[in-house]
Amino acid sequence: MKFKKNILGIGAGYVGGPSMVMIASKCPDYKVTVVDIDPGRIAAWNSDQLPVYEPGLDAIVRKTRGRNLFFSTDVEAQIQENDIIFVCVNTPTKTFGAGAGMAADLQYWEKTARQILENSKTSKIVIEKSTLPIKTAQAMERILSSGKKNVTFDVLSNPEFMAEGTAVSDLENPDRVLIGSRETKSGLAARAALVEIYTRWLPREKIITSNIWSAELSKLVANAFLAQRVSSINSISALCEKADADISEVAHAVGTDSRIGSKFLKAGIGFGGSCFKKDILNLVYLCRFYGLPEVAAYWESVVKINEYQQDRFIANILRSMFNTLAGKKICVLGFAFKADTGDTRESPAIYITRKLLAERAEVVISDPRALANAAVDLAQEKGKISYVEDPYKAAASCHALAVMTDWEEYRTLDYRKIYKVMVKPAFLFDGRNIVDHRKCFDIGFNVFPIGKPALTRF
Ligand code: NAD
Ligand code: UGA
Repeated sequence: MKFKKNILGIGAGYVGGPSMVMIASKCPDYKVTVVDIDPGRIAAWNSDQLPVYEPGLDAIVRKTRGRNLFFSTDVEAQIQENDIIFVCVNTPTKTFGAGAGMAADLQYWEKTARQILENSKTSKIVIEKSTLPIKTAQAMERILSSGKKNVTFDVLSNPEFMAEGTAVSDLENPDRVLIGSRETKSGLAARAALVEIYTRWLPREKIITSNIWSAELSKLVANAFLAQRVSSINSISALCEKADADISEVAHAVGTDSRIGSKFLKAGIGFGGSCFKKDILNLVYLCRFYGLPEVAAYWESVVKINEYQQDRFIANILRSMFNTLAGKKICVLGFAFKADTGDTRESPAIYITRKLLAERAEVVISDPRALANAAVDLAQEKGKISYVEDPYKAAASCHALAVMTDWEEYRTLDYRKIYKVMVKPAFLFDGRNIVDHRKCFDIGFNVFPIGKPALTRF
């Protein structure tokens, strides 16, 4: 079959996979191929066990795979065959050399740029979908223009705003799509080609076009603002605990001001996920690089409050359980960094579990989707760890429950049944404020929410 356009996604991860799947689903007359250097990941995309868990994704993949959606490891051949290339490779925080612990590690991205240059026999539109530091497009252009003169490349910035757990609905119905381009004739033509893809399922008003640097920076800033809201409410949760206020009531009262808005005001154990911390640190690094230390310090404090919130949670567990956890069994309810995903990258549960183990507690981890990733994250840890999917079995003979992920099912567990099989006095530390605290207290638990008075018998 002859397709109208051939589109390639490089990097079949949490972003490259779902976003290319959505294009294939909305544009049946386009051929969409997704490549990755990881053969295990590609095999999983070609199987019934997709490498990422996203509600609703399996059904779309079943409909499109083999029709106009293909997964392959042959990066070089696919670069040759496609004229529109989305680069969705990982851009983690650098762990070595200059900028270690702050700057973005661009090695995967640069390798891709060079591969595109080496394997291109025709002109191409190259789209940055990964989150990148401002001015990366310029570096991309420099690499791409260092080769054969008869092939040209237009670089666009089209950052992705989807969140994990809601990827399908976010991609299907985003608040906006952002496309940054050079304002040259060919830059504008490339931009129009990308706009045409998105308008296959989105109204034109939802597509924002801008200059390329604004697009790159907007992505970092959007994540920084979202994370800042979480740190803001978490900082106030500490004050609530001291002053007998209730963080849910404060968040509601503040969030009903339409200028502030009610979303992203849930206090908890701090934000996790592969991006918030990485992107803020990247922003901090850029501010320092451009000689703006005050701006850098402002944004760095968002990450510091996030760490403070996790330390507070652990300190509270230790203090409430008579300053010793040695030999006690703690059930960690939830390991994913948020509900509806199996992703555990930067999950607060990793840090908190390590701290529990350092106190020589025995840790039982339960999660409906993330146990395999949890086992990888904790593989190097010494101490007693077990993984039990069924929360009722996981809680058996534990001294405390620590809720780490806002899985909906944790709201409605039979806490009476759980209480019965636990060691008394039984403790419940609700790091997500999703359990009915009063009810659990009445059952017999000593309950420690976030940003609300504890309900305890001591
Ligand atoms: P990921 O690690 O899940 O996926 C990246 C994939 O790229 C990996 O499978 C890796 O093997 C592959 N890869 C690396 N180098 C390659 C190469 N040279 N050729 C082919 N494949 C290569 O990462 P992710 O979570 O999908 O994030 C990717 C980018 O998208 C990051 O910049 C991230 O900040 C951004 N982002 C992520 C999310 C999210 O929800 N995870 C949302 C918006 C933006
Ligand atoms: C976030 C952004 O929401 C996306 O727009 C962005 O595309 C993505 O990062 C990215 O660039 O990777 P994601 O990390 O998948 O998406 O999930 P969020 O829903 O933003 O949650 C992030 C963390 O904040 C989670 O640990 C969550 O539990 C926590 N959070 C969120 C709170 O503690 N309170 C809230 O009110 C909201």
